[in-house]
Amino acid sequence: MKVPSKDQSLRNLQIGGELYGKVKVPGDKSISHRALLFGAIAKGKTIIEGLLPAEDPLSTAECLRSMGVTISPIKKGGIVEVNGVGLNGLKEPQDILNCGNSGTTMRLIMGLLAGQEGRNFILTGDKSLRNRPMKRVGQPLKIMGAKVSGRCGGDFAPLSVTGNKLRGAVIGTPVASAQIKSAILLASLNAEGSTTVIEPARSRDHSERMLKAFGANLEVGGEMGRHITVSPGNDLKGQSIIVPGDISSAAFWLVAGSIIPGSELIIENVGLNPTRTGILDVLEEMEANIKLINKRDVAGEPVGDIEVSYQNQLKPFNLDGDIIPRLVDEIPILSVAACFCRGISKIKGANELRVKETDRLAVMARQLKRMGAKVDEHQDGLTIYGGNDLKGCELDSEDDHRVAMSLAIASIMANSNSTLRRSEAAAISYPDFWSDLNRLQQKN
Ligand code: S3P
Repeated sequence: MKVPSKDQSLRNLQIGGELYGKVKVPGDKSISHRALLFGAIAKGKTIIEGLLPAEDPLSTAECLRSMGVTISPIKKGGIVEVNGVGLNGLKEPQDILNCGNSGTTMRLIMGLLAGQEGRNFILTGDKSLRNRPMKRVGQPLKIMGAKVSGRCGGDFAPLSVTGNKLRGAVIGTPVASAQIKSAILLASLNAEGSTTVIEPARSRDHSERMLKAFGANLEVGGEMGRHITVSPGNDLKGQSIIVPGDISSAAFWLVAGSIIPGSELIIENVGLNPTRTGILDVLEEMEANIKLINKRDVAGEPVGDIEVSYQNQLKPFNLDGDIIPRLVDEIPILSVAACFCRGISKIKGANELRVKETDRLAVMARQLKRMGAKVDEHQDGLTIYGGNDLKGCELDSEDDHRVAMSLAIASIMANSNSTLRRSEAAAISYPDFWSDLNRLQQKN
């Protein structure tokens, strides 16, 4: 991973200036990881278009390469070719697998490796990832016969996975997490007998959609599609995949366009999978000016363009329950939006934010309070009192990409300029964020 210079890292953030124009957000991070991972264990060639060329998917690609998967360099348009090695064909790597900052890489790869019989793998990551809980994946995999261990009783990386014979199982997950679900589904492809995952609430379903497209025998059932069953036996076959733009990256522009006076934006090619569109429901509740246009289906995922313009009377919102997994990565930018609503917004049931790249409830509360926002932090959420002026100050992303981009939007609305430490974190999911922001601020 590149080490940014101090100058790159400390960024000056200027106040004011409406955002205007068109922006095409980069490829969906979740779909990019899955396209690489499923392509790697398919038979034959997978061609991916629009892969997100950011640090997290690159961590997945590097791990797969060191297990014998040929993956071309990313060409213009995010085009990548993956030559799959089949369900059980991953090689024992010569070194530790480095998952960088990426929880999706580590957790999905744990599932992928659990059934690679007789081969040994060690997984690690950066300081943040080494402190994120992994037992939530290791434990269900062990029910299937996996051999997984790690620091602190298997909860933290470095982790060791020794591929083993797996058996199908019925597994209820304690939290609605697509990473846990996907790890189990990946392991189930190499198990004896079928496996059913039951989630407490439905999490993003990109794995289900894409595994079906690759030819897996997978069924979604139960109330709200919370029961997913895989019956092994089918090989995966290489596919052509088109990755839509990431709604989690679009979220920064959706909120910026809504709160910055005079803004008018069109965000093109955004993935609109219903398991991801909680942010659109909240913006509707806020009575933001949002319009979906050009709705279409691209390679099994709904996609559209979104128009957004400034609204000076945004209503506050309440978040809790099943909507949380549908907008889990958008809570940092929604907490910025709440500062500009007329009234009190409440976020509850969001404990999962404490175990993301940072403790996002604590970090957002800390950074927004520096700006003078009135925020109460609770164990499972935040209460944000809208309508208080924000002031410019020294901000810090605390090494979290979504925090970096959320604070950048907040700072535009402050009454004096700010600085942002560790701004380079944005490259984890949105490498061109700073240049896109700069361009949208130059009204022509
Ligand atoms: C992801 C699932 C979510 C999300 C993460 C990406 C995925 O995490 O926060 O950014 O690609 O499966 P959880 O599965 O932990 O909810």
